[in-house]
Amino acid sequence: MSISVEIGDLTQVEADAIVNAANSTLLGGGGVDGAIHAAAGPRLLEACRRLRNTTHRGGLDVGDAVATPAFDLPASWVIHTVGPNLHRGQDDPALLASCFARSLDVAAELDARSVAFPAVSAGAYGWPVPDVARIAVTTCRGWLAEHPDGSPQEVRFVVVDERIRDAFEDAIGMA
Ligand code: AR6
Repeated sequence: MSISVEIGDLTQVEADAIVNAANSTLLGGGGVDGAIHAAAGPRLLEACRRLRNTTHRGGLDVGDAVATPAFDLPASWVIHTVGPNLHRGQDDPALLASCFARSLDVAAELDARSVAFPAVSAGAYGWPVPDVARIAVTTCRGWLAEHPDGSPQEVRFVVVDERIRDAFEDAIGMA
């Protein structure tokens, strides 16, 4: 089992699943969500629309996760999660922890061995990077410890700059 952080572009990552920091509509947006939709091609939006017309008529709840194929991306799956939006007063760490835990639950259902995450809620949704890093690492580490057999085995955090990478390295270094 491994947890690591790297600077990079999530849309280029060759993991079995990448996680999208989406919004409740599942119909795209800016940030990493926009980048994933642009790189995956229009079939991703069609797949998200199908979710909205079937299993997720009311949208995706904050802290929940759901998968679609990754279409034109190197990954096989996109796991969409919705982080809490601090600008709307969503300041409960349990909601952010749930994004990571539920994404790993969904990855396990897909038998995905490797999962790559962005810094969910650390962009437009306004959470401080050190808090996101600590919650992400603690949650994923706990999840992996509770699921020693099977998938996923590898968690990668793929972030945009040194500041965020350093925060995740600090969190990973803490026992
Ligand atoms: N690869 C990796 N990380 C990225 C990439 C990329 N290609 N592009 C941006 N990031 P955000 P949120 C980083 O705003 O805070 C969207 O409009 C970014 O620098 O994408 O959860 C959705 O539709 C930041 O560190 O997600 C929602 O409405 C991190 O990814 C809302 O934003 C997360 O930033 C979600 O906000």
